[in-house]
Amino acid sequence: MTQNLADTSRPAAVPAAEPTAEPIATNAGASRGWWRDAVIYQVYPRSFADGNGDGMGDLPGVRSRLPYLRDLGVDAVWLSPFYASPQADAGYDVADYRAVDPMFGTLLDADALIRDAHQLGLRIIVDLVPNHSSDQHEWFQRALREGPGSPLRERYHFRPGKGAQGELPPNDWESIFGGPAWTRTVDPDGTPGDWYLHLFAPEQPDFNWENPAVADEFRSILRFWLDMGVDGFRIDVAHGMVKAPGLPDLGSHDQLKLLGNDVMPFFDQDGVHEIYRAWRKILDEYPGERIGVAEAWTPTVQRTANYVRPDELHQAFNFQYLGTHWDAAALREVIDVSLDAMRPVDAPATWVLSNHDVTRHATRFANPPGGTQIRTAGDRELGLRRARAATLLMLALPGSAYLYQGEELGLPDVTDLPDEVRQDPSFFRQAGQDGFRDGCRVPIPWSGTEAPYGFGPTPGGPSWLPQPASWAELSVEVQTGDPTSTLELYRSALAVRREHPALGAGTAVSWLPSAEGVLAFRRDSAAGSFVCTVNTTPEPVRIAAPGRLLLASAELAVVDGESVLPTDSAVWWAV
Ligand code: GLC
Repeated sequence: MTQNLADTSRPAAVPAAEPTAEPIATNAGASRGWWRDAVIYQVYPRSFADGNGDGMGDLPGVRSRLPYLRDLGVDAVWLSPFYASPQADAGYDVADYRAVDPMFGTLLDADALIRDAHQLGLRIIVDLVPNHSSDQHEWFQRALREGPGSPLRERYHFRPGKGAQGELPPNDWESIFGGPAWTRTVDPDGTPGDWYLHLFAPEQPDFNWENPAVADEFRSILRFWLDMGVDGFRIDVAHGMVKAPGLPDLGSHDQLKLLGNDVMPFFDQDGVHEIYRAWRKILDEYPGERIGVAEAWTPTVQRTANYVRPDELHQAFNFQYLGTHWDAAALREVIDVSLDAMRPVDAPATWVLSNHDVTRHATRFANPPGGTQIRTAGDRELGLRRARAATLLMLALPGSAYLYQGEELGLPDVTDLPDEVRQDPSFFRQAGQDGFRDGCRVPIPWSGTEAPYGFGPTPGGPSWLPQPASWAELSVEVQTGDPTSTLELYRSALAVRREHPALGAGTAVSWLPSAEGVLAFRRDSAAGSFVCTVNTTPEPVRIAAPGRLLLASAELAVVDGESVLPTDSAVWWAV
């Protein structure tokens, strides 16, 4: 049951590829449009693997675990930010876009990681944070130092305040992390000065994308990383860079509730698409199909599709899918709506269940429907059962799927972190009202019986967030070789997905008649057909087997010649 995680003796699923700009052979094959059905694994570097034992994950740690990801069977790895950053928002506050933060390693480590990944047939996608920088970014520091009139101030949104003394914020916008979206500066002479805009934490001033220096700088940053060999970018807050002219008031003081329902003066403005048209040209200059992926929170999937028109980005996260509860009718609807929205723009649908900003789906599904920030552990067994089924459903849909590190271990969210260890800035801004993202960011368990469970090199060594003792039983080491484990379910699912091109390919599913609470759909390809059945009900459901069993998220029984779909299960069939 043990696994040597550094073991690279197992032959790669594909031939090794050149580590540079040439197209590489990945787990998915080297076909055109590799990203159309790619399975992309999100590494949150702080919490994946700690190479130097300081309690914080790092790039050498990630590099040492690449064989694990190759063997898991994913096609690409998306790394959350590892750039130079004061870490006010866990690296989403970037002080230098061309440097690796010493806590994560060096540029040489990044280079070695990209090369190793390519040799293993894995593509690398890095996070780009263009909506805002860190307040420690050189431009912002100079803007503050040089005072009003500095051309550097034009690169951000500085404005005089309202009120007789300029003591009120320039407009009524609220920060996503709570409180006003404006912070007042102090002029170089010590008197209160202008305000600056930050849609997130005060340490994350928003860039002014109307300023050509900002656009130039980001085109150069894109090239810097493309020249390093990365295969694409996940674009943070991709819907935020362009603000409505004049920064108009919203007229509401419950703005967070409006998010996702409407186009806001600071989100999803049409002007943002110009930026992506320019970026697409740059991506296309490089060989090997480098891609852009939008993190765009939009009111509808149809508006999300705007980000992936043929001359813009390649993919956009499907947050409507992520937000859907374990309910057959709701799932069927979001699947149809997503596929319908992407078809006209010829972009693949994407599917995602977890990431570093939301409660892990094993815990969301363990609780009654309640959004993506859940604070209670709920019924762990129920959540895991549904999570395993949800994964098989997701991996049977046409398009590209995103996995978040640790979901392959069935990890729950850590809902009982003591307040004193929390680091999510939104937790503090909201005085504990929201901001529970630390629960999905706890370092993952690899091996051993003592924390940090192989996350760091030394038993008993540190980890930046404490891991629950129960995670000893969920480690990669414990789950490897156990056919009932969630890890082996993921490995099998990804292996089957590669063998059956009908999975992932295409742009449609054919729904089959099914009982209430059960989903059944068929996928056809030249290489064969495939059926997925999902029982979301609390009762087992009998069906006539539609074909040969390929994989099931729970044990299937056969009664009187019929198959019994266990409660909260998904089954793949070859037909
Ligand atoms: C994105 C990131 C999130 C971050 C925010 C501000 O939503 O995923 O982690 O806090 O942007 O950069």
